[in-house]
This record gives sequence, structure tokens and C-alpha cells, in this order.
Amino acid sequence: NPVTVPRHLLSISDLTPAELTSLVLKASRHKSAVKTAWSAGEIPKALSGTLGGRTVAMMFSKRSTRTRVSTEAAVALMGGHPMFLGKDDIQLGVNESLLDTSRVISSMTSCMVARVGPHSDVVGLAEHSSVPVINALSDDFHPLQIIADFLTIHETFPERVPKADSLGLEGLKVAWIGDSNNVLFDLATACIKLGVDISIASPAGYGIPSVMKDVILSGRAGAARPGTLAETTVPEEAIKNADILVTDTWVSMGQEAEAKKKLAAFAGYQITNDLAQRGGAKADWKFMHCLPRHPEEVADEVFYSPRSLVFPEAENRLWAAVAALEGFVVNKGKLL
Ligand code: CP
Ligand code: NVA
Repeated sequence: NPVTVPRHLLSISDLTPAELTSLVLKASRHKSAVKTAWSAGEIPKALSGTLGGRTVAMMFSKRSTRTRVSTEAAVALMGGHPMFLGKDDIQLGVNESLLDTSRVISSMTSCMVARVGPHSDVVGLAEHSSVPVINALSDDFHPLQIIADFLTIHETFPERVPKADSLGLEGLKVAWIGDSNNVLFDLATACIKLGVDISIASPAGYGIPSVMKDVILSGRAGAARPGTLAETTVPEEAIKNADILVTDTWVSMGQEAEAKKKLAAFAGYQITNDLAQRGGAKADWKFMHCLPRHPEEVADEVFYSPRSLVFPEAENRLWAAVAALEGFVVNKGKLL
């Protein structure tokens, strides 16, 4: 039998603007179909059985609430079996190499959803896997989060009509106030691809590394109207005219030893109503955060306000997982 090379989802860079648009719109359609059925007391039919009893291995070397729950729930909805493998459950990293682990697990399952430290770990898993690998967060990227984030933005601006290769969000402005991290790198790539302008404020020394900037800006290729990217160390500058203010923890998993230093460097970066007003955000600005949230990066007055999209954003992780599993596992990477 000819060996078919599986298609993987390791970062938003793996998707064309049309494919990213399609994943978001499919997530949206599944969300409304399933929730309509559930509220009518019916069993949603379209998705059930699409995984046909296939097993999805979930290899998580770090903690997770949203990614774990959304992936397990999505696999259950689709009639598959989610197999959670925490770092103390398998031989990987202690008694067995990444290569051997990848060959063995992929020989018995239909997908590996992996949360790792170094991005090279998920790349290595993919290299040796006979099934699709989906990145569930690496030190560099978080594609499932960004599919959910764009579903949330799509829902928040219903007057914006999707097109074939974009969600119709061109010209919206996102302001990221905080650390340059995995979530930002994929968010910025998606913004560039979908024509959303992104302005980033991080303290000096915590900006986007230049190799990563090249990755993000390579999203311009193939975008009909690429979004623009601007960087500053002044939060107010980034916020000017922003439609959506976004942040994430200042101390990502694995950076705990740097916490004290980072918290000091990020003083003044907390998103508050006063900061948004001083910066001149649009009158009806919204707030997003991938969660888990720590109080230092955003004040309660914003986080728990009507502007905050954080809980719908978290729920949308489920529908993003459904769309990604459908696209990469059921449809074997054919996303259009
Ligand atoms: N946003 C996110 O990925 O959350 P978890 O770390 O809880 O999965
Ligand atoms: N930047 C955070 C995201 C968690 C979902 C981290 O890597 O810990």
C-alpha cells in the first residue's frame, strides 16, 4: 500500500486564509447545529459517528483545563475515544524516545493531540507519525486557541460578512498588551492572514523575537488584504482605536523561575478601564484572554464586565476542536 503522509496542524502558519476561514465557519455551524439539537432535547446527528470509534491520543506534558476538556468532549461528540496520556502515564521522556513513542502511538490511534514544551517536540512527533498530529500548545504556538478566538470575533461582529477566503473582518484592530508568547504568535499570524490589524505592546526586552516575526509576516503571502503588525513598548499607543484588547498571562507554563523578574518588567501593563480610556480604544471595545487568567494582567472590572468575551471564548474551544478533528482526522487534511 502506498504510504500517505498525514497532514498536521502545528501552527496557524499551516493554514491558508481560506482554510482558516473554513475551519472557523465549520466550527460555527457545528456549534449551532449541536446546541439547537441539545436544546430541543434531541441527539445531534451530523457529528455523531464521524470518528467511527477511532482513538485520539492526547499526550499532555503540561496542565490543561480547556484544551483537555474541549478535545475529550469533541471526540466523544464525534463517536471516537479520547485517550488522555499525561506525562506520568507513558514512557516518553523517561524510558523512550520521541521517535519510538510517535511510531508506536500512531500505529494504534488515528490522531495525536500533543501539548509539549519546546515546539521541536511536536515537530518531532509529527515527523515520525503515521497519523495527523495536532498541536495542543507548544512554547511557540497554540493553533486550536486561535481558531476558537476567531470564532469568538466572528460571533462578536455579526455585521461582518464572511467571504470565501476571509471572515470579512478586514480593518478591525486588535491590541495585544502583554507578553510575546505562543498565543500571540499564532494570533498575530491569523490576524495577518485575515486582514485584521494587530498592535502589540510589550516591555523592552519582551518583544517578538525576529525569527518569529518572520514566521508571522510570512502570513502575508496568500492574503488578499494582509493585516498590519505594529509594535511598541507603550500600551496606550497600541490601544489607540482598538476594537479588541487581548492579553494572556505574563508568566507562561515553564517560565515560573522568571516570574518575579517578569512581574516587575510588566508593571503598568495591566488592562484596566482607565488604561483603555487613556489609550483611546473604540467606545465599545471588547476584551479577550485565552485563560487561565491571573489578576496581574487584567483587572476584575474588565475581566468580569460585559465587554469581556472570555467565557464564550473558552466554550468556543470545544467547537474549534470539533472542526480541527473533522478537518484533519475525518477529512484527512482536506479543509476546503
Ligand atoms: N487556553 C488554554 O489552552 O487553556 P488550558 O491551558 O486550560 O488548556
Ligand atoms: N501562554 C500560556 C497559554 C496557556 C494556555 C502558557 O503557555 O502557559
